Amino acid sequence: MRLSRLQVIDFRNYAQAELELQAGPTVLVGSNGQGKTNIVEAIGYLSTLGSHRVASDQPLIRRGAERAVIRAIVLNDDRELSVELEITAGKANRARIGRAPVGRTKDVIGIVRSVLFAPEDLSLVKGDPSDRRRFLDELLVQRYPRYAGVRSDYERVRAQRNALLRTAGMARRAGKSGDLSTLDAWDEHLIAHGAALLHGRLELVHDLSPHFQTAYAAISGSADDVAMRYRTLAEDVRADADDVDDPQAPEEEIGVPDIEELSALMRTRLAAMRAKEVERGMTLVGPHRDELLLRLDDFPAKGYASHGQSWSIALALRLAAYELLRAEGAEPILLLDDVFAELDAKRRAYLSEVAKAAEQTIITAAVEADVPDGLEATTHRVTAGTIAS
Ligand SMILES: Nc1ncnc2c1ncn2[C@@H]1O[C@H](COP(=O)(O)OP(=O)(O)OP(=O)(O)O)[C@@H](O)[C@H]1O
Ligand SMILES: [Mg+2]
Repeated sequence: MRLSRLQVIDFRNYAQAELELQAGPTVLVGSNGQGKTNIVEAIGYLSTLGSHRVASDQPLIRRGAERAVIRAIVLNDDRELSVELEITAGKANRARIGRAPVGRTKDVIGIVRSVLFAPEDLSLVKGDPSDRRRFLDELLVQRYPRYAGVRSDYERVRAQRNALLRTAGMARRAGKSGDLSTLDAWDEHLIAHGAALLHGRLELVHDLSPHFQTAYAAISGSADDVAMRYRTLAEDVRADADDVDDPQAPEEEIGVPDIEELSALMRTRLAAMRAKEVERGMTLVGPHRDELLLRLDDFPAKGYASHGQSWSIALALRLAAYELLRAEGAEPILLLDDVFAELDAKRRAYLSEVAKAAEQTIITAAVEADVPDGLEATTHRVTAGTIAS
């Protein structure tokens, strides 16, 4: 899929701007702080309903304006579809698909698919576990949009369960008994949404893992051995297909546990942790505590990988995401925000080939020299919230 047109109104530093987009590579050039990343962010927002830079919507709305609008015309083969999002800070966003308003903004997810590479991606390797969980969840939602609901249901239940635990914990500390009569019911809600989310993530890691290994080998040109593994409830759940303990054993797929098994696992852990949860006043069991482990030659990448190796791992994660989405459905748009300037010649050349082959790639660069030679692109100049061809 690709976009043929993008319009933003009161988005970041744009009062109003329009961009006609062709297939193949498009380059947005302009000096720092002019609005290049803002365009890429707008496209990313249409696909995930979130920004890669901020957790809240307020900064997306132009200072002094009340709401921002992102509008796009999406082309799937020859079928055209328009999507529109209206972002109002502190209120529910509104969406239109075609001309019709949609009941739930989440229904927009899945129409625009994109994979964004950004300088911030180094935190996928060097950052906190929450950065890697977010990577998984955003990809999961693009892969299967229904997980947007699973994710928000889980977060809602966790917040309510936390409130209950906090109140009970305070009561206990004050020498009272603390009412936990509804906790069992909350446990079941937590398990229902938590096990579903867990299952989606495990399946994702299982399917992403081979793409990750291939991409790392290609991008680094090295024989380093990389692996990803998902750790849940303090146990490693093996999600890599060809990692079998017994070398004599036939190549067999290690499957992803089913939802019943995962529910049982969560139930057991919740029972074991209950006293501690009340004491701490928060939920200590569930996918919000899990970790995507990245390993380089059998050491944790975080802490062991060099700067260059960390970059290769981060790029390999994004490339793997791109390959997975591409293999399973409409080809995603490749968004390359300021990445070429960070790369050495070999990695530039590789990423440049991927960009050339993609149905649509949008590249930002401060100077044209940062864009690899041979990347035949339509170039637009971005200056202080205006875009010129
Ligand atoms: N809500 C907002 N309202 C008005 N202007 C904003 C808002 N948010 C960000 N900006 C402005 O947008 C500009 C940053 O845009 P952007 O991040 O797209 O820059 P860029 O062209 O990618 O720059 P760089 O090359 O440094 O990455 C800054 O000038 C910033 O002040
Ligand atoms: Mg930028």
